[in-house]
Amino acid sequence: MWRGLIEEFRDRLPVGAQTPVVTLHEGNTPLLPAPELSARTGCDVYLKVEGANPTGSFKDRGMTVAVSKALEEGSKAIICASTGNTSASAAAYAARAGITCAVLVPTGKIALGKLAQALVHGARLLQVSGNFDDCLALASKLALDYPVSLVNSVNPDRLQGQKTAAFEIVQALGDAPHIHCLPVGNAGNISAYWMGYQEDHAAGNATRKPRMFGFQASGAAPIVNGAVVREPSTIATAIRIGNPASWTKATDARDESGGLIDAVTDRDILQAYRLLARSVGAFVELGSAASVAGLLQATAQGRIDPGQTIVCTVTGHGLKDPEWAISTAPAPTTIPADPLAAAKALDLA
Ligand code: F0G
Repeated sequence: MWRGLIEEFRDRLPVGAQTPVVTLHEGNTPLLPAPELSARTGCDVYLKVEGANPTGSFKDRGMTVAVSKALEEGSKAIICASTGNTSASAAAYAARAGITCAVLVPTGKIALGKLAQALVHGARLLQVSGNFDDCLALASKLALDYPVSLVNSVNPDRLQGQKTAAFEIVQALGDAPHIHCLPVGNAGNISAYWMGYQEDHAAGNATRKPRMFGFQASGAAPIVNGAVVREPSTIATAIRIGNPASWTKATDARDESGGLIDAVTDRDILQAYRLLARSVGAFVELGSAASVAGLLQATAQGRIDPGQTIVCTVTGHGLKDPEWAISTAPAPTTIPADPLAAAKALDLA
């Protein structure tokens, strides 16, 4: 039985016998072949489906370690800023640990499902008039001045947990992929994967390290532009971030791996979102589709040689944002409870 990340990767994480393990049995997510994407790129493309984690996003990998370490240090409360997924995950792990969780989110800019998660798990939710970057500045200040542990990805325990996704991929493929694509927001995850791949390579588990390809939304692309974006804007609210905390780590990952960090438009994100849902059977959130939008863009630009193994992380579950799914699909047809009417509506009769 899978026992969660800390037990499965104990010797490669900053935990000891005295660490109280707080787990929801996160990790062990599918590495799903994506034939449609393989056909479009001439490569062997897989999705690392992180929406299959307990709270529906990759944040659980970091949160199991961050909350366990916070407990070990005697913390009674955690705090985070969030575009939604971090708060959902922090709320669930805090509930499991029996400690208080405070979350700061930008008013009106987080998906409905994520809001529901923070509330149902009993977090103290503050909606802030400002964007994610303002929320993170506030949360960091509170963690300095009051007895609460910050569990954003500036907390190194978060990245330690998140690096395990790379370990799982190397285990599943028998080696590292040639290219790894992922969405970039606060830039913690790309940094964590790069750390994981480097460790696996150093340990002799992989013969190579992948080129790291990160993708920001074009209205929230500070790393691509080389400047802070004061008012980030994108339909992909998960990655609506103008001043990423792990900026330098992400550019290091890009440069050391021979990769790239580029921007994708909201239109391309939406197209990839639909393609994943309709042709791969993967319902992911908009922010997650940025990795696939980026892969297709890089292919169109001639940057992808055929025959390579490529993994795209799809970071969160589509059900977190049902409003988007419904508003972008054709309206359903309403019929009386009558077989002929049903047959006609389905173009069968
Ligand atoms: N995809 C999803 C679904 C996310 O929720 C996030 C970040 C990212 C990608 C980007 O990852 O920040 O490590 O570069 N969400 C954070 C949050 C900011 O508050 O939930 P990153």
